[in-house]
Amino acid sequence: MKIVAIANQKGGVGKTTTAINLAAALAQQGVRTLLVDLDPQANASSALGCLTEEGGSLYSCLVGADFAAAKVLETRLPNLWCIPSHMELAGSEVSLARNENHLIRLREVLEPLTVLNRWDVCLIDCPPSLGILMTSALSAADGLLIPIQCEYYGLEGLAKIIDLHERICAAGVNPNVTIEGILMTMFDSRTNLSRQVVDEVRRVFEDLVYESFIPRNVALSEAPSHALTVLEYAPNSPGARAYREAAAEFIRRQPAATAEPPATGTPIPEAAGSEGPAAEAAAAEAAAIEAPAAESPAATPATPATPDTTHSGPETQTPVPSPAPPASGMGASPLATTAP
Ligand SMILES: Nc1ncnc2c1ncn2[C@@H]1O[C@H](COP(=O)(O)OP(=O)(O)OP(=O)(O)O)[C@@H](O)[C@H]1O
Ligand SMILES: [Mg+2]
Repeated sequence: MKIVAIANQKGGVGKTTTAINLAAALAQQGVRTLLVDLDPQANASSALGCLTEEGGSLYSCLVGADFAAAKVLETRLPNLWCIPSHMELAGSEVSLARNENHLIRLREVLEPLTVLNRWDVCLIDCPPSLGILMTSALSAADGLLIPIQCEYYGLEGLAKIIDLHERICAAGVNPNVTIEGILMTMFDSRTNLSRQVVDEVRRVFEDLVYESFIPRNVALSEAPSHALTVLEYAPNSPGARAYREAAAEFIRRQPAATAEPPATGTPIPEAAGSEGPAAEAAAAEAAAIEAPAAESPAATPATPATPDTTHSGPETQTPVPSPAPPASGMGASPLATTAP
């Protein structure tokens, strides 16, 4: 199970929107996906219909001895599971700080899930701010996916999260965490600024920037109010199409071993490891976890979407941008001294 933290300390850049819709699109494309909602706001949990009572989040695992597997809920979508959040998680910022090894606690909590081998990918929806929850996510992750809004202040936020990534690596907390990618969100083809921001980020980070980008699209902001992912709410919208493309690119970018998504409906394999303390913990967790749905309907292939006529505001008309002209008019870029 590859753990990918969707993180950016800047608020409102599309972390949660990316977490739920990328997770749903990966699941639709046959990838067994676990979404961990680590934001006490619990927006990802509500969008997936996984709101929980007190005690249902990872809080008791982080500060106590509970098993993470016992917190896993099935969602209504095949191939997609969720560990929901609850306001109680906010308390872990304080409780964890008292623990000497607080940065690696989340990694310890998630480790047995990895050994269970029930999921291919675990996406963590991180809270904004540079608190303990977010740094714990970076310390537990194999990869960091950074959504950034196509606005000037998005560049400033990007410089900060890159800096945090370097610190986590340099401090030896999690030297192997890589930058999985940078996903440009809320792209508005009607503004030069969106193109300039994309150009600037591509100039500095080159291939780390996803070719797929997420347009500003009203269906993406409407879907959560119906407690739905955009793939369910408006499957033909530009937003749904963009997240399906981002999911396909995510899969393409994985090393060969995980590049081919497993066939949907394939029985969940047994735990990979059969020896050692991690395997024992996994066995204990396996007993605690509810069996995931045995059969999943065939995955819907990522087909090109037709224009969304239901949500026909100006945002749904966003055309695919043509290659952007050279950046100009950006002034001093906050990325001037930033390197991947
Ligand atoms: N591509 C998009 N087009 C239109 N609206 C969007 C898009 N992406 C996100 N939004 C809207 O922008 C707002 C912020 O998005 P989101 O909650 O995903 O950001 P976030 O980074 O998770 O925020 P926070 O830092 O508070 O957790 C939400 O109202 C969401 O519906
Ligand atoms: Mg969020």
